[in-house]
Amino acid sequence: MVREDFSKVNAFIKHPQKCVVAVVKDSNDKYNMITLEWFMRTSIEPPMFAISIAHSRYSYECLQKNRFFNLVFLSKEQQKTALVSGSKSGRDIDKFAQTGEQYFAGRLAKYPILKEAVANFECKVITQVKSGDHTIYVGEIKHSWLNSDKDVLLISDLTNK
Ligand SMILES: Cc1cc2nc3c(=O)[nH]c(=O)nc-3n(C[C@H](O)[C@H](O)[C@H](O)COP(=O)(O)O)c2cc1C
Repeated sequence: MVREDFSKVNAFIKHPQKCVVAVVKDSNDKYNMITLEWFMRTSIEPPMFAISIAHSRYSYECLQKNRFFNLVFLSKEQQKTALVSGSKSGRDIDKFAQTGEQYFAGRLAKYPILKEAVANFECKVITQVKSGDHTIYVGEIKHSWLNSDKDVLLISDLTNK
């Protein structure tokens, strides 16, 4: 065991991680998607997910304004959505138009449910905490949607990350 720089140790311990997007809404009621690696379950009852969003992201502005998000576990077929949502900003483009994702309105706040995903979780933000250059939003899951015939996309599946 040797002491090393954080970035070197962190790169070494990366393990297969699911690739998700959060669907958020801006102040003009336009929906946006952001690809995320930093998310986790934080409560069993009630069920909750937390997501960590950098302050530079357009999605941060969206979440400060509109207190809901859908956490979407992408399928293997949705690599383009992961790449577009993780490299372009909603300030500049409409990611739903660019990716051609098909969706229908959810039950909680009518945010889009992505039809081709493995799972969609509709979340209401119940608390947030600033964490350095990110803010962690904790969302209570109100509705869950499943496509059991799809396989989860991993970050290691992305060929152009
Ligand atoms: C694989 C991958 C994982 C990412 N994980 C995060 C994350 O956990 N938190 C974050 O703030 N940005 C993350 N990003 C970066 C954002 O997805 C990216 O900056 C995006 O273009 C921001 O879009 P927005 O400006 O529309 O919010 C990730 C990007 C990729 C490709």
